[in-house]
Amino acid sequence: MKFWSKRLTLAIAGIAAGWLIMAGIMNRAAAQAVASRPPTPKETAGHYFKNVQTEALKGLSTDDFLSAMGVITDSLGLDCADCHPGAGTDKVDWVVDTPPKRTARKMIDMVQAINKTHFAGAQEVTCFTCHHAREKPSTTVSLDNLYSAPNMDKDDIVTPDKDQPAATAVLDRYIAALGGAQRLAGLKSYVMHGVSIGYEGLGGNGQFTVYANAPNQRTTEIRFPDHPDRAPSIWTYDGKVGWVTAPRGLLGEYELEGSNDAGAAFEAAMSFPQNIKTLFTNWRTGSMESIGDSDYIVVEGISKDVVAKLYFDAKTSLLTRVIRFINSPVGRVPIQVGYTDYKDVNGIKFPMALEFLWLDGRYNAEIKSVDINTAIDPKKFAKP
Ligand code: HEC
Ligand code: HEC
Repeated sequence: MKFWSKRLTLAIAGIAAGWLIMAGIMNRAAAQAVASRPPTPKETAGHYFKNVQTEALKGLSTDDFLSAMGVITDSLGLDCADCHPGAGTDKVDWVVDTPPKRTARKMIDMVQAINKTHFAGAQEVTCFTCHHAREKPSTTVSLDNLYSAPNMDKDDIVTPDKDQPAATAVLDRYIAALGGAQRLAGLKSYVMHGVSIGYEGLGGNGQFTVYANAPNQRTTEIRFPDHPDRAPSIWTYDGKVGWVTAPRGLLGEYELEGSNDAGAAFEAAMSFPQNIKTLFTNWRTGSMESIGDSDYIVVEGISKDVVAKLYFDAKTSLLTRVIRFINSPVGRVPIQVGYTDYKDVNGIKFPMALEFLWLDGRYNAEIKSVDINTAIDPKKFAKP
């Protein structure tokens, strides 16, 4: 069940793909119980972990495997500890097979079989399709729900809506709202300085810095100057390869592989909106969606590895939300970033309030200053 206590236990149990560490709420001891060594580049989950057997998961990269664990956990409304005894403590045993873990393995095979047999291999059925954040799926419509709030689930893949403006027109308006193509063309690099704020006080606050170099290099750092014993979390993408240093993460420091690498490449390229139209060849506009009291034009691009769903404020034309979904055999992995409080910096608008949400954590960042077109040491984007 999605009660806060459950979510917090989940967070503390400590997950996935290094992203969690953004919130900084992982249990170090639990993490170290796994990572006696970091995975080597290109190492598969089946090789790195001791007891990964399913055809669907064993060929994944280690970080994509942990993303899949996050999808399973949230799709069923569980904690890691519901399948892995002691997760969140230093007594965790990830390897041992428990009854729910055995069932989960069968379900992973079942989902692959359903999609193969009945949907020509397209990923139409996922754990969430049936479970909807319940451990056991419900079988009958609840009459209370039928007559109460509307279902808020959204489609990952939007259906093009011909009554909406063409996607390229929406993207052009966004570029104009930011300051115009000409000004943006002159944006070669920037550094954003701010603070990160852990959700509900979890994870503590950190010094948050983003370094971006056109067209597609980006590094995010969270440092904890008030806690000298706490190592920084760093995500780099040098234009080809991404690295994560997540000192409290399950994998420690590792090179991004597979879908997570494609996700990092997308995020880096999005740092320079002047190139946004080139990021996908199939941009489309879906129907408008409301968030709170505001209406948003939804534009989506799809590639082999990434689905990017962009929400533009219908009034200001500015980008307010990006949900990027990366692939996983058990259901897509969503990462959502909110952009608000745009301020002018030398004629270009930058969002000063950022909000990050992913399957196992969330945090906010407040940007205090942006330096544009400053020289950034290339080492900043390399392996940390
Ligand atoms: C519903 C049950 C379930 C939940 C919840 C779950 N897992 Fe798993 N986990 C599995 C299964 C099943 C496997 C084995 C997969 C296979 O054989 O392909 C596994 C394997 C693992 C392994 C590999 C262990 C080894 O060395 O063999 C790790 C690490 C892991 N999970 C981490 C996590 C984390 C972190 C979470 C919480 C985000 C989590 N799991 C939540 C079912 C679960
Ligand atoms: C087609 C619908 C469907 C899909 C898709 C599905 N499940 Fe299930 N799952 C069920 C049903 C129904 C049950 C309950 C069976 C029962 O009560 O004996 C269940 C039970 C489970 C249980 C045992 C829960 C318990 O407390 O006994 C686990 C664990 C589980 N599923 C994991 C998964 C995972 C992981 C996925 C995605 C890889 C998945 N399921 C996808 C229908 C589905």
